[in-house]
This record gives sequence, structure tokens and C-alpha cells, in this order.
Amino acid sequence: MKKVLEKLYETNNLTKEELIFVLENIDESAKADLFQLAQATLEKTYGRRLFVRGLLEFTNYCKNNCMYCGIRRDNKNVERYRLGKDEILLSLDKGYELGYKTFVLQGGEDSFFTDDILLDLIKEIKKRYKDVALTLSIGERSFESYEKYYIAGADRFLLRHEVANPYIYNELHPGLSFQNRVDCLYNLKKIGYQAGAGFIVGLPGETNEVLAENLLFLKQLEPAMVGIGPFIPHPDTPLKNETIGSVDKTIVLLALIRLLLPEVLLPATTALNTLCTNGLERGLQAGANVVMLNLSPIYVREKYEIYKNKDSKDIHELNTVEQKASSVGFRVDMGRGDNINFRRI
Ligand code: 5AD
Repeated sequence: MKKVLEKLYETNNLTKEELIFVLENIDESAKADLFQLAQATLEKTYGRRLFVRGLLEFTNYCKNNCMYCGIRRDNKNVERYRLGKDEILLSLDKGYELGYKTFVLQGGEDSFFTDDILLDLIKEIKKRYKDVALTLSIGERSFESYEKYYIAGADRFLLRHEVANPYIYNELHPGLSFQNRVDCLYNLKKIGYQAGAGFIVGLPGETNEVLAENLLFLKQLEPAMVGIGPFIPHPDTPLKNETIGSVDKTIVLLALIRLLLPEVLLPATTALNTLCTNGLERGLQAGANVVMLNLSPIYVREKYEIYKNKDSKDIHELNTVEQKASSVGFRVDMGRGDNINFRRI
């Protein structure tokens, strides 16, 4: 095990067999070594800085029916909402006043938000907050649409691949195809976005081989950002009786991702923090360096319930985040926090 981890640290790569070997056999002492190496790697790229993002969940309408997701189309127990332009800008204003320099607009796949509506919004946001990076997380759209949003000023785009196994992917995402997902991600990269991919840990049917496939998919794609989090069964979905994803495994995977992709921006995600009160600290100690805080209006928050008891931190909780970060030797960086390899002129 020591030898394999050394190789990972030196070369930032492992074969599928080696990744499976690590996932199968890692014990507590090897985990400590792995986390050490992940931290040393982060030290060389971004240092012990924690980047913060302001997350706005602007619509929970979704035309998709993903088997795990609480805002899937067929869930009739969700009260649907979409925020208007004024509400969106008002929320972002608050974030801006608090010093946030990255805004993430996340929503279900909602056809109400046509290209024209989105372009108007993107331009307004980039005009209003000149020094802010804008991230979109709105699912699959055409190359042409992605390109228009980019030209209008969107800087980054999050689109998790969810699971890099075509059979499992297609089972869990009725009406979608893994190939199209992959095409979208490569389109985003080609256009020039800082693109984010990622997967859910502990989905039904997942094995260590599937996890290794997820990791190698990321290695090949080389995204600027990666988001992963444990699966949390939602009672109003077909997967309600499935087992919850493992926090420990998620943390090991964070460390492996840091070592495979030293320059990636890697959040300790809300799902991780939902299952674990010290998710942020444990994430940081395993190579994570981003946290996303919620700036959605309070009255819509419980409606954006992709999983139960979703415990997102409020943008006003920067103090708590700062304390947690400093307890493990990190300091909060309020800058845009671009990926090292990107800087748009
Ligand atoms: N458990 C964990 N993660 C989930 N997501 C959606 N539903 C769940 C769930 N039940 C994740 C998906 C999506 C991201 C926004 O939230 O990976 O891309």
C-alpha cells in the first residue's frame, strides 16, 4: 500500500487495478498516509487556503427524473418555485456586500429559463459585479447555448457526471444518456469554461471498480473543479430504501482526487456536511479547498430539497467557517478562487 500511495504522490496517476487495490485495502494507518500526501499536494498548488462561493438555488423546477433526486419531475410533494430577476439580484447583492467573489447559479433543468432570459441575467450580473466570477449549474444544454452564456460572461460551469459507468448512469437517469453528459462536459471545456464534473458516492450498484472508473474518468477529463458527495436517500424517490453513502469513503475519494488532479478546486460539499458535523474540517484535511455557502432567500431553501435534511450553511456563517478552517490550519480566501490554469483577460 505504501508503495502505491508513493507512486500516486510522485506521478499523480494510478492504474485502474491500483485504484481498486487502494479502495479495497486501505486501513486507518494508510488513510493517515493518504491524507498527508493529499495535503502536501494541495500545499504545492493553492496552499492552505479555503475558497468560498455563494450558491443561489434559483429554480427547483426540473424536467428530468433522476432516480435519486428529491426535485425529480415525478415528485409531486415538492412545492416548485423559480426566482425572478429582481429576487436573484437582491440575493446576490447581499452576497456581494459580504465580500463574495464567486456566485453559483444552480437550478433544475427548467425550460422557463430560455437562452434569452439567461443571457439577460448573466450580462446584468457581470455588469453589476465586475470583479465576480459567475458559475452556472443548470444541466445539459446545446453547445451553442453554452457558448452564448460564456460570451455573455459566464466563467465556470458545474455539471457532475454522476457516475462514469454508462449502464448505471442510464438506469438512474431516465431519458438521459451518459454519452450526452460526456459530450456536454467536453463542450464546456472546449468553449473555455472552468468546467466542474463529479459523482455521487454510494449509489446503488456502485462497486470499487465503478469508483475507480469515476476517478479515471476525472483524470482523463481534467476538469477545473470536482464535486463529490455521499448519496443521501430521499423518501420521495424510487431509491428511498437504499443505503446511505459512506462519509469515510467520500473522504478517501477526496484525497485520491486531490492526488490525481493536484490543481483541481475541490469542495467539501453540502451532502458531506449534512452527514457529518465536521465534514468541512475532515474534507480540508483530505485535500478539499472550497466551500459553498447558501445565499438563496430563506423561504425557498426547504423547497430545494435534493436530499433530506440538507444542511447548507448560510452566507452569514462565514465566521463559523473561518473558525473551522483555522482549526485545521486553513485560512479563508475571499478572492475569486480561479483554477490556477485559467485567467480570463
Ligand atoms: N444524494 C446525494 N447527492 C444528490 N444529488 C442529487 N440528489 C442527491 C442525493 N439524493 C447531487 C447530484 C447533483 C447535485 C446538485 O446534487 O450529484 O448533480
